[in-house]
Amino acid sequence: MLRRICVTAVTTTALAGLGVAAGTSAQAVLPVPGPSLGEVTFAAADDPAHPWVLVNKTHPITPRDWAPQRLVRPDVAALGAHDRLRPVAARALEQLAAASERATGHELVLVSGYRSAAYQGDLYDRYVASHGRREADTFSARSGHSEHQTGLAADVTEAGTPFTRFGGTESGRWVREHAWRYGFVVRYPAGERAVTGYAPEPWHLRYVGVGLASHLRLSDATTLEEALGTGPAPDYPADDAGPDGSEGPEKADRSAR
Ligand code: DAL
Ligand code: ZN
Repeated sequence: MLRRICVTAVTTTALAGLGVAAGTSAQAVLPVPGPSLGEVTFAAADDPAHPWVLVNKTHPITPRDWAPQRLVRPDVAALGAHDRLRPVAARALEQLAAASERATGHELVLVSGYRSAAYQGDLYDRYVASHGRREADTFSARSGHSEHQTGLAADVTEAGTPFTRFGGTESGRWVREHAWRYGFVVRYPAGERAVTGYAPEPWHLRYVGVGLASHLRLSDATTLEEALGTGPAPDYPADDAGPDGSEGPEKADRSAR
């Protein structure tokens, strides 16, 4: 059961603390309904097309083979073939990449965007073959359980750096601090495996919209699970038998997670 939570709208003092210019209306930062600040309600969505959809080990994408209706290539440098995103996430990534490059002088590169359920299953199977299922489950999602299938997740890195070392780069530090301004959250932060189910992935950004990303930034929450009040998702349910042989036609490589 997904829980609804209410948060009081942010104060201008809190916004100022985040570097939002004095005089900026909160409406410019948060999608506050109505003429006054009032309250904003954030709730996990089941619809895979919704920016607040929760996808983790206990909340699979429904239906499991769901695919976005429209995918586009963002105007950012990209590695590999999985370079498409939902338009809303693509536009936000373009803004994020441009700002990151202005701030750091380094190009931000899209490593892996949308992945089909079949491709994710193939990728996961290969990681199981090389690392064993127990370890693979700490860094690779089973088919139907990956945010990449929504077209709202993007693995990124700094040009010239393997994505696994992104967190230690200037761009990685900048993105960790500023991604929320563009509607992204760093989905698998350090020290939260018991909540998210995954080891840290500084490179995995999830588009949730500026409102929810701002809420995460302003609240004590560090994970989407906490921000949406859904409880932790450290493991798959015992009755989840794991991959069901969903081998995809695409050749999986190990340059993506
Ligand atoms: N690496 C993340 C958890 C995924 O496979 O979607
Ligand atoms: Zn990822």
